[in-house]
Amino acid sequence: MSRSAHPAGPRHADVLPEGHYTAPPADLNHLEPQVWSRTVTRNGDGAVEVGGLDVRDLAAEYGTPAYILDEADFRARCRAWRAAFGTEADVFYAGKAFLSRAVVRWLHEEGLNLDVCSGGELAVALDAGMPAERIAMHGNNKSSAEIDRGVAAGVGRIVVDSFEEIVRVAAAAERHGRRQRVQIRVTVGVEAHTHEFIATAHEDQKFGLPLASGQAAEAVRRVLKLESLELIGLHSHIGSQIFDMSGFEVAARRVVGLLAEIRDEHGVQLPEIDLGGGLGIAYTPADDPAEPHQIAKALADIVTRECETAGLERPRLSVEPGRAIVGPTAFTLYEVGTVKPLEALRTYVSVDGGMSDNIRTALYDAEYSVALVSRRSDAAPMLSRVVGKHCESGDIVVKDAFLPADLTPGDLIAVPATGAYCRSMASNYNHALRPPVVAVAEGQGRVIVRRETEEDLLRLDVG
Ligand code: LLP
Repeated sequence: MSRSAHPAGPRHADVLPEGHYTAPPADLNHLEPQVWSRTVTRNGDGAVEVGGLDVRDLAAEYGTPAYILDEADFRARCRAWRAAFGTEADVFYAGKAFLSRAVVRWLHEEGLNLDVCSGGELAVALDAGMPAERIAMHGNNKSSAEIDRGVAAGVGRIVVDSFEEIVRVAAAAERHGRRQRVQIRVTVGVEAHTHEFIATAHEDQKFGLPLASGQAAEAVRRVLKLESLELIGLHSHIGSQIFDMSGFEVAARRVVGLLAEIRDEHGVQLPEIDLGGGLGIAYTPADDPAEPHQIAKALADIVTRECETAGLERPRLSVEPGRAIVGPTAFTLYEVGTVKPLEALRTYVSVDGGMSDNIRTALYDAEYSVALVSRRSDAAPMLSRVVGKHCESGDIVVKDAFLPADLTPGDLIAVPATGAYCRSMASNYNHALRPPVVAVAEGQGRVIVRRETEEDLLRLDVG
């Protein structure tokens, strides 16, 4: 259709420029359960509720933008992962997705372990009472101080990522008179991308010790020589937001292959393997992630099969889901500030946040969905781009989505599935104040991470 055929501009769905969208949904008021946390519903007033609380009340009490986290959903996902892997495997929640003291307490109560990748995450974990033996420490360049702190606290495992680190962890263990349990992070030569999998020999990235070059086997030799280190297994993490299990299959085969080589060379069978995290979630209704029990079965089957072939006993398995647990549990609540229709293109809907609270769209070209949540609307669908308030045209929260054409400043809209890698990657760009995380459950709201204030910013700026 020619653009000039539509003088009314893009407020109606019959003008469809290029973009990442399909046809508008039949009912814009419908909340697709795949992308919203499980207690989200639309109430009799037409407004959205979560944890028994109306978003209009949440906005009034806590302000916008705000991350609203559904505690019951978080706990249910923890339980589902725990139950799916049973007593035969360990689930480590990857704290990088989102970590706070409340989250640590929920994990503890629900029987999950925790993976931390920095001194800061370790500090939050220990402060909130996570038993140190249930903490795994990651990172490709842990500082000596971080290693020392982890060893002194008694963390259950340190995943060593380089030859230098083997020496540093051993030195810390000796200093503290401990035998530190370690895993070796192995680069298996598998690169997994969103919605796609590429098996390749390409190992050109900073994490882990490459298997193909023999550096992983050399790390095993070095660790086994050190009295202060106990080598409990191998670790592999192939990527993030993965839907295709074949990447894990190749990774498991290669890790088990190395276990067999270790047995042949050293006469020891290492007791554990960790296949990392990376399981994908639904950001839009087009995404169809597997359930934890399907993932657990697929991984257990792969490992069992590979071990049978290699003539090894099945090692204890661990996994490290971050996004798959916390991602779907939260949405970001924004207030609409301006609604700017651009002739024959789309309508730019500006909200009171942006790339400072969700960098994923700008950084990874990530796709999100969005809904009007403060009321119901039967207006026609309007092709929209939800943008933030930052001084940058790449400041896009949702690239292409349909919102009702009667959208007005003051309306509340929400972007679902922002529980993972949004607050944890939030910035102060343009001196934005990072939004709070409000946990809701059974009709009660509770700030678990408070909103930043200008005073916080000024306190850092020592003049
Ligand atoms: N284990 C290790 C060793 C990891 O490096 C990661 C993520 C995980 C577990 C958890 O992965 P998950 O289950 O959450 O996919 N900022 C990016 C994601 C970076 C993931 C880094 N490592 C994003 O926003 O998509």
